Amino acid sequence: MAQKIAVVNQKGGVSKSTVVLCLGTGLANRGKKVLLVDLDAQGSLSISLGCDYPEKLPVTMAEIFQMMEHTPDSTDAVRGILSHSETLHYIAANRKMVFVEQKLSQTEGGEQFLKCFLSSVDAAYDYILLDCPPALGMVTVNALVAADWILIPTQLEYLAAKGLEQLLQTVVRIRRRANPELQILGILPTMVNPRTRDSRKVLRLLQDTYGNSIGILPCQIPYSVRVKELSSSTKSIYELDRNGKVAAAYEQLVDIVLKSTKAATEAGTGGCI
Ligand SMILES: Nc1ncnc2c1ncn2[C@@H]1O[C@H](COP(=O)(O)OP(=O)(O)O)[C@@H](O)[C@H]1O
Ligand SMILES: [Mg+2]
Repeated sequence: MAQKIAVVNQKGGVSKSTVVLCLGTGLANRGKKVLLVDLDAQGSLSISLGCDYPEKLPVTMAEIFQMMEHTPDSTDAVRGILSHSETLHYIAANRKMVFVEQKLSQTEGGEQFLKCFLSSVDAAYDYILLDCPPALGMVTVNALVAADWILIPTQLEYLAAKGLEQLLQTVVRIRRRANPELQILGILPTMVNPRTRDSRKVLRLLQDTYGNSIGILPCQIPYSVRVKELSSSTKSIYELDRNGKVAAAYEQLVDIVLKSTKAATEAGTGGCI
């Protein structure tokens, strides 16, 4: 069964989609079978994976949510799985996700649809990564209900760090009501410029506030213009930034994820928290 990781932060522009893309590619490069699930109406993960027109696809996450509402049979839903490479598959999202968000909040049991769908495909994968939208609405709740783990990218800025409190309250609520097994891999500082005094100050604040409970991952993704090239390139970060700091940081993240999730699988229970 796949280890399912939701990459979540209700703030936009903190690197969620980039983390899903680079972590997913890194895991696939290590021989793991990986499925990336785009849950954001902006479809930026889908576009970065080479899907230029997610609006034109017949089956995307919006149709899959709709199918799960009407029949839990996923025979048609799996047509939404696209192949980026032999070991890296993905499901695209587009603007229709806005309507999904509205519909889910009016549908009883609507927080379980993604879990229901993933349970029918997860035997085929080692890892399933969920790219959450920048909100704590029903689509993100679906991801938190379906996931085994969450990974929280954040910029080292004061307001971004403050925003984590609300996210953590949501996690506590989901654990209590729907997914007691949900574990936290940790907070991942992204777009870090280690030279600025402010980022060092915010890192200390995060360590003081969450260091003992959630944990700050021993890995930081540096800021680099190379990352901006990813969305329009067919190359991965490991090719674009060969021997560079960003690729090295993502390799380190891949190691951490492999280690934490392996420990959990072997122990039959959680690793980090
Ligand atoms: N390490 C990084 N260095 C520089 N730019 C980055 C980095 N990570 C992400 N970005 C850029 O920041 C923007 C937002 O990233 P994205 O992954 O789309 O965030 P989110 O999914 O949280 O909204 C994108 O333009 C992306 O290319
Ligand atoms: Mg995104």
